[in-house]
Amino acid sequence: MEGVIDADTRDLLSADGALDWCVTEFVRVVDAKLPPRVFLRHCPELATASTRGPLTPSGAPVTLQLLGSDPAALTANAEQAIALGATRLDINFGCPAKLVNRHDGGASLLRTPARVKTVVAAVVAAAAPHGVAVNAKLRLGFDDRRVALACALAAEAGGAKELVVHARTRRDGYRPPAHWEWVARIRAAVSVPVVVNGDIWTLEEYWKACTLSGCRDVMLGRGMLADPWLARRIRHWQLSGERLAATPWSARSEILCHYAARKRERGMPEKVVVSLLKQWLNHMRARDAEAAERFRLLRRETSLAAFLEGLSAPRPEATDSLPA
Ligand SMILES: Cc1cc2nc3c(=O)[nH]c(=O)nc-3n(C[C@H](O)[C@H](O)[C@H](O)COP(=O)(O)O)c2cc1C
Repeated sequence: MEGVIDADTRDLLSADGALDWCVTEFVRVVDAKLPPRVFLRHCPELATASTRGPLTPSGAPVTLQLLGSDPAALTANAEQAIALGATRLDINFGCPAKLVNRHDGGASLLRTPARVKTVVAAVVAAAAPHGVAVNAKLRLGFDDRRVALACALAAEAGGAKELVVHARTRRDGYRPPAHWEWVARIRAAVSVPVVVNGDIWTLEEYWKACTLSGCRDVMLGRGMLADPWLARRIRHWQLSGERLAATPWSARSEILCHYAARKRERGMPEKVVVSLLKQWLNHMRARDAEAAERFRLLRRETSLAAFLEGLSAPRPEATDSLPA
Protein backbone atom coordinates (compact mmCIF):
# COMPACT_ATOMS: atom_id res chain seq x y z
CA MET A 1 0.00 0.00 0.00
CA GLU A 2 1.50 3.22 -1.31
CA GLY A 3 2.82 5.47 1.45
CA VAL A 4 1.91 2.95 4.17
CA ILE A 5 3.41 -0.50 3.70
CA ASP A 6 7.17 -0.31 3.33
CA ALA A 7 9.78 -2.97 4.14
CA ASP A 8 9.71 -2.13 7.86
CA THR A 9 5.94 -2.46 8.02
CA ARG A 10 6.08 -5.69 6.03
CA ASP A 11 8.65 -7.04 8.46
CA LEU A 12 6.66 -6.08 11.55
CA LEU A 13 3.31 -7.31 10.23
CA SER A 14 4.66 -10.61 8.92
CA ALA A 15 6.85 -11.40 11.94
CA ASP A 16 4.33 -13.84 13.47
CA GLY A 17 4.41 -15.99 10.31
CA ALA A 18 0.68 -15.68 9.66
CA LEU A 19 0.91 -13.96 6.25
CA ASP A 20 1.49 -16.12 3.17
CA TRP A 21 3.01 -13.25 1.21
CA CYS A 22 3.28 -9.48 1.05
CA VAL A 23 3.31 -6.92 -1.76
CA THR A 24 5.44 -3.83 -2.23
CA GLU A 25 4.10 -0.36 -2.86
CA PHE A 26 3.73 0.10 -6.62
CA VAL A 27 6.75 0.91 -8.76
CA ARG A 28 5.44 3.48 -11.22
CA VAL A 29 6.52 2.76 -14.78
CA VAL A 30 6.12 5.55 -17.33
CA ASP A 31 8.21 5.17 -20.47
CA ALA A 32 11.75 4.44 -19.29
CA LYS A 33 13.64 1.53 -17.79
CA LEU A 34 14.09 2.44 -14.15
CA PRO A 35 17.47 2.11 -12.44
CA PRO A 36 18.03 -0.65 -9.86
CA ARG A 37 17.91 1.84 -6.99
CA VAL A 38 14.19 2.48 -7.63
CA PHE A 39 13.42 -1.23 -7.27
CA LEU A 40 15.65 -1.52 -4.22
CA ARG A 41 13.94 1.47 -2.61
CA HIS A 42 10.51 -0.11 -3.06
CA CYS A 43 11.74 -3.59 -2.26
CA PRO A 44 14.89 -3.52 -0.09
CA GLU A 45 14.32 -7.24 0.43
CA LEU A 46 15.78 -7.69 -3.11
CA ALA A 47 19.22 -6.92 -1.70
CA THR A 48 19.17 -10.21 0.21
CA ALA A 49 16.99 -12.20 -2.20
CA SER A 50 17.55 -15.95 -2.17
CA THR A 51 16.48 -18.46 -4.82
CA ARG A 52 13.01 -18.04 -3.30
CA GLY A 53 13.20 -14.36 -4.24
CA PRO A 54 12.87 -11.43 -1.85
CA LEU A 55 11.58 -12.45 1.57
CA THR A 56 10.65 -10.62 4.75
CA PRO A 57 12.96 -11.50 7.68
CA SER A 58 10.36 -14.04 8.84
CA GLY A 59 10.37 -15.67 5.40
CA ALA A 60 7.21 -14.34 3.75
CA PRO A 61 7.74 -13.93 -0.02
CA VAL A 62 7.50 -10.35 -1.24
CA THR A 63 5.75 -9.69 -4.55
CA LEU A 64 6.92 -6.64 -6.46
CA GLN A 65 4.11 -4.50 -7.82
CA LEU A 66 4.32 -2.56 -11.09
CA LEU A 67 1.94 0.17 -12.21
CA GLY A 68 1.89 1.50 -15.76
CA SER A 69 0.33 1.24 -19.19
CA ASP A 70 3.19 1.34 -21.70
CA PRO A 71 3.76 -2.28 -22.74
CA ALA A 72 7.39 -1.84 -23.84
CA ALA A 73 8.33 0.00 -20.65
CA LEU A 74 6.55 -2.61 -18.54
CA THR A 75 8.44 -5.42 -20.26
CA ALA A 76 11.76 -3.62 -19.74
CA ASN A 77 11.04 -2.95 -16.08
CA ALA A 78 9.78 -6.45 -15.43
CA GLU A 79 13.08 -7.71 -16.87
CA GLN A 80 14.95 -5.31 -14.65
CA ALA A 81 13.05 -6.45 -11.54
CA ILE A 82 13.71 -10.10 -12.39
CA ALA A 83 17.42 -9.43 -13.01
CA LEU A 84 17.52 -7.94 -9.50
CA GLY A 85 15.97 -11.07 -7.99
CA ALA A 86 12.19 -10.61 -8.11
CA THR A 87 10.37 -13.92 -8.44
CA ARG A 88 6.76 -12.68 -8.19
CA LEU A 89 5.30 -9.71 -10.02
CA ASP A 90 1.95 -8.02 -9.59
CA ILE A 91 0.32 -5.40 -11.81
CA ASN A 92 -1.76 -2.61 -10.30
CA PHE A 93 -5.12 -2.07 -12.02
CA GLY A 94 -6.74 -0.65 -8.91
CA CYS A 95 -5.12 2.64 -7.98
CA PRO A 96 -7.83 5.32 -7.90
CA ALA A 97 -5.51 8.34 -7.54
CA LYS A 98 -6.49 11.10 -9.98
CA LEU A 99 -2.90 11.86 -10.94
CA VAL A 100 -2.15 8.19 -11.67
CA ASN A 101 -5.41 7.76 -13.61
CA ARG A 102 -4.84 10.94 -15.65
CA HIS A 103 -1.55 9.42 -16.74
CA ASP A 104 -3.33 6.26 -17.77
CA GLY A 105 -2.27 4.00 -14.92
CA GLY A 106 -3.98 1.92 -12.23
CA ALA A 107 -7.77 1.67 -12.42
CA SER A 108 -8.05 3.79 -15.59
CA LEU A 109 -7.02 0.75 -17.65
CA LEU A 110 -10.18 -1.05 -16.53
CA ARG A 111 -12.15 1.17 -18.92
CA THR A 112 -10.73 -0.88 -21.80
CA PRO A 113 -10.38 -4.59 -21.00
CA ALA A 114 -8.27 -5.15 -24.15
CA ARG A 115 -5.61 -2.90 -22.62
CA VAL A 116 -5.63 -4.97 -19.43
CA LYS A 117 -4.72 -7.98 -21.57
CA THR A 118 -1.98 -6.08 -23.41
CA VAL A 119 -0.42 -4.82 -20.19
CA VAL A 120 -0.49 -8.22 -18.50
CA ALA A 121 0.92 -9.88 -21.62
CA ALA A 122 3.78 -7.36 -21.72
CA VAL A 123 4.84 -8.26 -18.18
CA VAL A 124 4.31 -11.97 -18.78
CA ALA A 125 6.57 -11.78 -21.86
CA ALA A 126 9.43 -10.76 -19.58
CA ALA A 127 8.48 -13.04 -16.70
CA ALA A 128 7.51 -16.34 -18.28
CA PRO A 129 10.99 -17.28 -19.62
CA HIS A 130 12.26 -17.04 -16.01
CA GLY A 131 9.38 -18.98 -14.50
CA VAL A 132 8.20 -15.83 -12.69
CA ALA A 133 4.46 -15.69 -12.01
CA VAL A 134 2.50 -12.54 -12.75
CA ASN A 135 -0.61 -11.56 -10.77
CA ALA A 136 -3.12 -8.82 -11.50
CA LYS A 137 -4.69 -6.64 -8.83
CA LEU A 138 -8.07 -5.50 -10.10
CA ARG A 139 -11.05 -3.48 -9.01
CA LEU A 140 -14.52 -4.35 -10.30
CA GLY A 141 -14.33 -1.60 -12.92
CA PHE A 142 -13.75 2.11 -13.32
CA ASP A 143 -17.24 3.62 -13.29
CA ASP A 144 -19.41 0.55 -13.11
CA ARG A 145 -19.19 -3.16 -12.49
CA ARG A 146 -20.35 -4.27 -15.91
CA VAL A 147 -16.75 -4.60 -17.08
CA ALA A 148 -15.68 -6.69 -14.08
CA LEU A 149 -15.84 -10.05 -15.86
CA ALA A 150 -14.34 -8.71 -19.08
CA CYS A 151 -11.37 -7.23 -17.17
CA ALA A 152 -10.79 -10.42 -15.20
CA LEU A 153 -10.98 -12.53 -18.37
CA ALA A 154 -8.61 -10.11 -20.10
CA ALA A 155 -6.08 -10.40 -17.27
CA GLU A 156 -6.31 -14.18 -17.47
CA ALA A 157 -5.96 -14.13 -21.26
CA GLY A 158 -2.86 -11.96 -20.88
CA GLY A 159 -1.31 -14.70 -18.77
CA ALA A 160 -1.99 -13.67 -15.15
CA LYS A 161 -1.60 -16.67 -12.84
CA GLU A 162 -3.75 -15.23 -10.04
CA LEU A 163 -6.19 -12.35 -9.66
CA VAL A 164 -6.65 -10.29 -6.53
CA VAL A 165 -9.94 -8.43 -6.68
CA HIS A 166 -10.71 -5.37 -4.59
CA ALA A 167 -14.48 -5.70 -4.64
CA ARG A 168 -15.29 -2.12 -5.59
CA THR A 169 -15.10 0.07 -8.67
CA ARG A 170 -12.82 3.06 -8.89
CA ARG A 171 -15.91 5.24 -8.51
CA ASP A 172 -16.75 3.46 -5.25
CA GLY A 173 -13.38 4.61 -3.89
CA TYR A 174 -13.15 3.05 -0.43
CA ARG A 175 -16.83 3.49 0.46
CA PRO A 176 -18.43 0.48 2.12
CA PRO A 177 -19.73 -1.98 1.26
CA ALA A 178 -17.24 -4.11 -0.64
CA HIS A 179 -19.22 -6.21 -3.14
CA TRP A 180 -17.74 -9.61 -2.30
CA GLU A 181 -20.54 -11.38 -4.20
CA TRP A 182 -19.17 -9.88 -7.43
CA VAL A 183 -15.91 -11.69 -6.83
CA ALA A 184 -17.91 -14.96 -6.95
CA ARG A 185 -19.02 -14.03 -10.48
CA ILE A 186 -15.41 -13.47 -11.46
CA ARG A 187 -14.40 -16.79 -9.93
CA ALA A 188 -17.06 -18.54 -11.95
CA ALA A 189 -15.79 -16.93 -15.16
CA VAL A 190 -12.03 -17.54 -14.89
CA SER A 191 -9.90 -20.65 -14.27
CA VAL A 192 -7.04 -19.03 -12.34
CA PRO A 193 -7.20 -18.64 -8.54
CA VAL A 194 -8.97 -15.51 -7.30
CA VAL A 195 -8.25 -13.75 -4.00
CA VAL A 196 -10.93 -11.52 -2.48
CA ASN A 197 -9.98 -8.12 -1.07
CA GLY A 198 -11.74 -5.15 0.48
CA ASP A 199 -13.12 -4.30 3.92
CA ILE A 200 -11.91 -7.37 5.79
CA TRP A 201 -11.27 -5.96 9.25
CA THR A 202 -12.39 -8.82 11.48
CA LEU A 203 -12.68 -12.62 11.59
CA GLU A 204 -16.40 -12.25 10.91
CA GLU A 205 -15.74 -10.18 7.79
CA TYR A 206 -13.18 -12.75 6.69
CA TRP A 207 -15.87 -15.47 6.94
CA LYS A 208 -18.40 -13.36 5.13
CA ALA A 209 -16.01 -12.34 2.35
CA CYS A 210 -14.99 -15.99 1.81
CA THR A 211 -18.58 -17.20 1.92
CA LEU A 212 -19.95 -14.61 -0.49
CA SER A 213 -17.03 -14.76 -2.91
CA GLY A 214 -16.32 -18.49 -2.62
CA CYS A 215 -12.62 -17.59 -2.32
CA ARG A 216 -10.30 -19.55 -0.07
CA ASP A 217 -7.76 -16.75 0.20
CA VAL A 218 -8.13 -13.12 1.16
CA MET A 219 -5.87 -10.12 0.83
CA LEU A 220 -5.75 -7.88 3.87
CA GLY A 221 -5.12 -4.16 3.52
CA ARG A 222 -6.18 -1.55 6.03
CA GLY A 223 -7.50 -4.23 8.37
CA MET A 224 -3.96 -5.46 8.93
CA LEU A 225 -2.85 -1.97 9.97
CA ALA A 226 -5.89 -1.56 12.20
CA ASP A 227 -5.38 -4.94 13.87
CA PRO A 228 -1.86 -6.35 13.55
CA TRP A 229 -3.22 -9.65 14.86
CA LEU A 230 -5.78 -10.00 12.06
CA ALA A 231 -3.80 -12.52 9.96
CA ARG A 232 -2.86 -14.43 13.12
CA ARG A 233 -6.54 -14.38 14.17
CA ILE A 234 -7.61 -15.87 10.83
CA ARG A 235 -4.79 -18.44 10.86
CA HIS A 236 -5.59 -19.44 14.45
CA TRP A 237 -9.22 -20.01 13.55
CA GLN A 238 -8.26 -21.99 10.43
CA LEU A 239 -5.98 -24.27 12.46
CA SER A 240 -8.00 -24.66 15.65
CA GLY A 241 -11.54 -23.51 14.91
CA GLU A 242 -11.18 -21.22 17.92
CA ARG A 243 -11.29 -17.49 18.26
CA LEU A 244 -8.25 -15.63 19.43
CA ALA A 245 -8.84 -13.11 22.20
CA ALA A 246 -9.26 -9.47 21.23
CA THR A 247 -6.00 -7.75 20.36
CA PRO A 248 -4.80 -5.94 23.48
CA TRP A 249 -3.78 -2.30 23.24
CA SER A 250 -0.28 -3.34 24.34
CA ALA A 251 0.17 -5.30 21.08
CA ARG A 252 -0.85 -2.29 19.02
CA SER A 253 1.35 0.14 20.93
CA GLU A 254 4.27 -2.28 20.80
CA ILE A 255 4.21 -2.48 17.02
CA LEU A 256 4.01 1.31 16.76
CA CYS A 257 7.00 1.68 19.11
CA HIS A 258 9.02 -0.89 17.14
CA TYR A 259 8.16 0.93 13.95
CA ALA A 260 9.32 4.26 15.39
CA ALA A 261 12.57 2.70 16.60
CA ARG A 262 13.26 1.26 13.13
CA LYS A 263 12.66 4.59 11.46
CA ARG A 264 14.90 6.42 13.90
CA GLU A 265 17.65 3.82 13.35
CA ARG A 266 17.39 4.64 9.66
CA GLY A 267 17.88 8.32 10.44
CA MET A 268 14.35 9.43 9.69
CA PRO A 269 13.68 12.83 11.31
CA GLU A 270 11.55 12.71 14.46
CA LYS A 271 8.81 14.86 12.95
CA VAL A 272 8.39 12.52 10.02
CA VAL A 273 8.29 9.52 12.36
CA VAL A 274 5.57 11.23 14.41
CA SER A 275 3.48 11.88 11.32
CA LEU A 276 3.86 8.26 10.18
CA LEU A 277 2.84 7.06 13.63
CA LYS A 278 -0.24 9.29 13.50
CA GLN A 279 -1.08 7.84 10.10
CA TRP A 280 -0.89 4.29 11.47
CA LEU A 281 -2.77 5.15 14.66
CA ASN A 282 -5.42 6.73 12.47
CA HIS A 283 -5.88 3.35 10.75
CA MET A 284 -6.05 1.64 14.15
CA ARG A 285 -8.73 3.96 15.48
CA ALA A 286 -11.12 2.90 12.72
CA ARG A 287 -12.07 -0.18 14.71
CA ASP A 288 -10.69 0.23 18.22
CA ALA A 289 -12.03 2.53 20.93
CA GLU A 290 -8.77 2.74 22.82
CA ALA A 291 -6.80 3.62 19.69
CA ALA A 292 -9.44 6.25 18.95
CA GLU A 293 -8.97 7.76 22.40
CA ARG A 294 -5.17 7.72 22.14
CA PHE A 295 -5.40 9.31 18.70
CA ARG A 296 -7.61 12.08 20.11
CA LEU A 297 -5.09 12.77 22.88
CA LEU A 298 -2.02 12.61 20.63
CA ARG A 299 -3.22 14.13 17.38
CA ARG A 300 -1.51 17.47 18.04
CA GLU A 301 1.63 16.03 19.61
CA THR A 302 4.84 16.83 17.70
CA SER A 303 7.50 15.42 20.02
CA LEU A 304 8.39 11.79 19.33
CA ALA A 305 9.28 11.08 22.96
CA ALA A 306 5.94 12.45 24.18
CA PHE A 307 4.09 10.56 21.45
CA LEU A 308 5.70 7.26 22.42
CA GLU A 309 5.03 7.99 26.07
CA GLY A 310 1.39 8.65 25.22
CA LEU A 311 1.18 5.29 23.46
CA SER A 312 2.47 3.30 26.39
CA ALA A 313 1.04 5.37 29.27
CA PRO A 314 -1.68 3.74 31.38
CA ARG A 315 -5.10 3.55 29.81
CA PRO A 316 -6.64 6.97 29.19
CA GLU A 317 -10.29 7.73 29.96
CA ALA A 318 -11.60 5.74 27.01
CA THR A 319 -14.93 6.65 25.50
CA ASP A 320 -17.05 3.63 24.70
CA SER A 321 -18.06 4.75 21.28
CA LEU A 322 -16.03 4.31 18.14
CA PRO A 323 -15.46 7.24 15.81
CA ALA A 324 -18.16 7.80 13.22
C1 LIG B 1 -3.27 4.35 1.61
C2 LIG B 1 -3.53 3.23 0.65
C3 LIG B 1 -2.56 2.88 -0.27
C4 LIG B 1 -2.77 1.85 -1.18
N1 LIG B 1 -1.80 1.51 -2.08
C5 LIG B 1 -1.97 0.45 -2.90
C6 LIG B 1 -0.93 0.02 -3.78
O1 LIG B 1 0.17 0.61 -3.84
N2 LIG B 1 -1.18 -1.07 -4.56
C7 LIG B 1 -2.36 -1.75 -4.51
O2 LIG B 1 -2.53 -2.74 -5.22
N3 LIG B 1 -3.35 -1.36 -3.70
C8 LIG B 1 -3.18 -0.29 -2.90
N4 LIG B 1 -4.18 0.09 -2.05
C9 LIG B 1 -5.45 -0.67 -2.06
C10 LIG B 1 -5.37 -1.83 -1.06
O3 LIG B 1 -4.41 -2.77 -1.46
C11 LIG B 1 -6.72 -2.54 -0.95
O4 LIG B 1 -7.04 -3.06 -2.22
C12 LIG B 1 -7.86 -1.64 -0.50
O5 LIG B 1 -7.44 -0.79 0.54
C13 LIG B 1 -9.06 -2.44 -0.05
O6 LIG B 1 -8.68 -3.39 0.91
P1 LIG B 1 -8.83 -3.10 2.50
O7 LIG B 1 -10.26 -2.69 2.72
O8 LIG B 1 -8.44 -4.41 3.12
O9 LIG B 1 -7.89 -1.98 2.81
C14 LIG B 1 -4.00 1.14 -1.16
C15 LIG B 1 -4.98 1.48 -0.22
C16 LIG B 1 -4.75 2.51 0.68
C17 LIG B 1 -5.84 2.85 1.68
